[in-house]
Amino acid sequence: MKGLLLSGGKGTRMRPLTYTAAKQLLPVANKPVLFYAIETLLSAGITDIGIVVGETKGEIIKAVGNGSRWGINLTYIEQETPAGLAHAVKVSKHFLQEEPFIMFLGDNIIKEGVKSFVEEFEREKPDALVLLSPTKNPQRFGVAILEGGKITRLVEKPVPPPSNLALVGCYIFNKHIFSACEEIKPSKRGELEITDAIQWLIDRGYQVGYHIIKGWWKDTGMAEDLLEANRLILEEIEEEIEGEVDELTKIMGRVKIGKGSKIKNSVLRGPLIIGENCLIEDSYIGPFTSVGNDVKVKETELEHSIIMDECEIHLRERIEDSILGKGVIVRKVEKRPLSYKFVAGDRSILEVM
Ligand code: G1P
Repeated sequence: MKGLLLSGGKGTRMRPLTYTAAKQLLPVANKPVLFYAIETLLSAGITDIGIVVGETKGEIIKAVGNGSRWGINLTYIEQETPAGLAHAVKVSKHFLQEEPFIMFLGDNIIKEGVKSFVEEFEREKPDALVLLSPTKNPQRFGVAILEGGKITRLVEKPVPPPSNLALVGCYIFNKHIFSACEEIKPSKRGELEITDAIQWLIDRGYQVGYHIIKGWWKDTGMAEDLLEANRLILEEIEEEIEGEVDELTKIMGRVKIGKGSKIKNSVLRGPLIIGENCLIEDSYIGPFTSVGNDVKVKETELEHSIIMDECEIHLRERIEDSILGKGVIVRKVEKRPLSYKFVAGDRSILEVM
């Protein structure tokens, strides 16, 4: 079975972070979301993987390379316009050929992996197998209606949602999906929806199975989802201290500190991760915080946040529930006028007390 990873979207719901970075490369516990997807496919035995790329192609290729780090066989597939998931399947036909394939959205993380899902497909041999998860806000996703143990209908982002079963961003198909993707028309948002393609299969009597996942699943489509995914991944982090921690520092819980980082006179309360070559001084870093590489934090309290590489923070106050992109500077004003001074990019969100 081949793997198809979708990494072509623009990530408009994640702006401003996605003005300068592909959404699939945003870090969760200091690792790009897309890497979790690659590793999930790999642990299900999928090693022949195509990645659909769009506008952010250069960045994705730079981060992922030729796949040798995972020992996989990678093919990049260009999608010139992000015209929907079914469109991505169409442009991947030359790579996929006639073989069944597992399609995985590059901004999704599925805790339990997809091994049993792949095994189920191989055992039952349906035409399509979808993953479902009960969710609190189904109107944000594709939603499935089950009747008599079968999927009867799939609707994309319905208001009001007819059930709480969301389509997780992972699907397995055989070659019949290509006819479906050819036949369907663009949706209201102007995209060729994979949800509509699967409905096309159902309507024509093809076998569409489902598998309800038990563990957590996260679509990191919006800022709060990224923070939540970060929290869920850090929940399972293991302690590993490679940097230097001075004797005035107090560490509680599971903390990971990368090489070359120095922690001075601070309190670290895990689970949290600090990358390489950081300097943390006279600060508190609390649970569910990921600090990237080359970050400086001084006299600041940080909790439940994602701080990307090269940020500098010297605030003498507490920051929570925040995501800072690369190289962001946050500091206390020292000279009069003592006012807020912002240099914020388009669509930045600055919440002050
Ligand atoms: C896509 C699918 C949707 C699915 C979701 C999962 O939505 O269209 O059916 O539930 O991924 O992440 P999109 O992210 O394109 O809005």
